[in-house]
Amino acid sequence: MIDKSQFGQMPDGQIIDSYILTNNNGMSVEILTLGAIIRSWRLATDPSVDIVLGFDNATDYLSDQSYLGRTVGRYANRIKDGEFKIADKSYSVSTNLQGNCLHGGVEGFHNRLWSVVNTEDDLYPSITLNLTSEDGDQGFPGTLNLDVTFSLDQEDRLTIEYHALSNQDTVFNPTQHSYFNLAGHNSGTIFDQQIQLSANNYTPADENAIPTGEIKPVNETAFDLRQPTSFGQAINRQDQAIKAANGLDHNWCVEGFSAAQDKLQWVADVIEPKSGRILITHTTMPGVQIYTGNFIGEATLGKNNIKYAPYHGFCIESQFYPNSPNQAEFPSATLPANTPFVSKTSYQIKQKSQQ
Ligand code: BGC
Repeated sequence: MIDKSQFGQMPDGQIIDSYILTNNNGMSVEILTLGAIIRSWRLATDPSVDIVLGFDNATDYLSDQSYLGRTVGRYANRIKDGEFKIADKSYSVSTNLQGNCLHGGVEGFHNRLWSVVNTEDDLYPSITLNLTSEDGDQGFPGTLNLDVTFSLDQEDRLTIEYHALSNQDTVFNPTQHSYFNLAGHNSGTIFDQQIQLSANNYTPADENAIPTGEIKPVNETAFDLRQPTSFGQAINRQDQAIKAANGLDHNWCVEGFSAAQDKLQWVADVIEPKSGRILITHTTMPGVQIYTGNFIGEATLGKNNIKYAPYHGFCIESQFYPNSPNQAEFPSATLPANTPFVSKTSYQIKQKSQQ
């Protein structure tokens, strides 16, 4: 089932719509045409539990600095100094954090109004949103046309598919920036939720979260999350980089990634111990940024006037490694002209007993 309603307005008066996708089990995911945002994700077993952080109105989304629920682009995470080269041609893109480009720059994709180009509701509900990013948008080369499809299947899996085409060589790295809290968006910190990653390596970063270029084994480091580890424990590990970031805000390398990007690999499970709820993430992308909401503003008033604060949600952002356009050794984020880009990431909810 798909329910459409009006959510709000853009500053210029254009209408922002909300689409609620409900599968046959009764699970629902709400998508906004503003920012291709995931605004809510309610469980079939208990619709009062909403596992993503969000806002109740457009104004709050438009002033949000934490990218709640956004589709992020053109380049998720950081590009050092906002500069890179493609085939010896230099580009300078919008910088918005410590002189670096974060999440596509000042006017990234996250606050754009997307158009709905398709909805389907046969086997299970799905919606496709489209955005055209013009040549030179935030300094990035090439006109890029992007479709993002969200589908919610009968196994309570939300699959997000990105299809894009650029008319010039460019760099492209889309992601989803939902903050999950498996106990519910209104239940405080995520410290007792446990994360397990399929990642033998990670990319160490400097004090501004720019990778040094190394790909380092997690073995005997604070970044070894191969066994279930509570976020509280992981954040408190004695490590300079974790301290500098106020928590987890790092990129891990997905095991089994293939350059053809045609295979979904399991990368993360997060378990909420009280309910036994598990979020299972698969992706075709080479990396994943695990971010524990370290910088969520203390005074953020979310849905139903719930006060959000640091560590009230975690993000699992599939991606090319940060700053890949300047690191030849990393999987390439260059999208050649007129070459289709396809990537997929899925998030599935299960109960522990079902696993
Ligand atoms: C980044 C963080 C940033 C957050 C919100 C994450 O993807 O890695 O450093 O604070 O997004 O913008």
